[in-house]
Amino acid sequence: MGKPDIFEVLKKEHRKVQDLISQIKDRQPGEMRQEIFRDLDEDLKAHSKAEERLIYPILLSAPEKEGRVFGFSAEEEHKIVENILNEMEENSVESDEWNGLFHVLSESVHQHIDEEESKGFVLLRKMCDKDRRAELADEFVSLKDSLLKEDASDSSRKEPRTRDYRITPQ
Ligand SMILES: [Fe+2]
Ligand SMILES: [Fe+2]
Repeated sequence: MGKPDIFEVLKKEHRKVQDLISQIKDRQPGEMRQEIFRDLDEDLKAHSKAEERLIYPILLSAPEKEGRVFGFSAEEEHKIVENILNEMEENSVESDEWNGLFHVLSESVHQHIDEEESKGFVLLRKMCDKDRRAELADEFVSLKDSLLKEDASDSSRKEPRTRDYRITPQ
């Protein structure tokens, strides 16, 4: 049994995100959809940020154009997903807007995950040996953990918008 590598960690994270999305899909209005969405929102944002800080810089410095282009396009997809999540936060989970946004979110996230696990993993594997991949796994887990803690202490769960007001320059 070797140490877990970054691919195992990312796959596990992706399965969690996909599971939260299907849970929301499977539930009727009122059945904890708001709570599950909150988990998804936090988890996905921290996951994406950790990838942007730790994984994408490796791809963006790839010797082949393919790796760099992949890095930029994946980063762009994160921005799209983050914007959708922000818009969803502003709407009630029972609204038509929210449900429309959820549909786009679900499609975008599934496609993004598929591309990361196929093309992205192949490109990353070329650039990182076994030891580096194990190191990245540890680094990813602790970075994501601290991002989640930061987010929890930075925002009041009952008033999610205070976060947004705080970052608006006065
Ligand atoms: Fe990603
Ligand atoms: Fe990912």
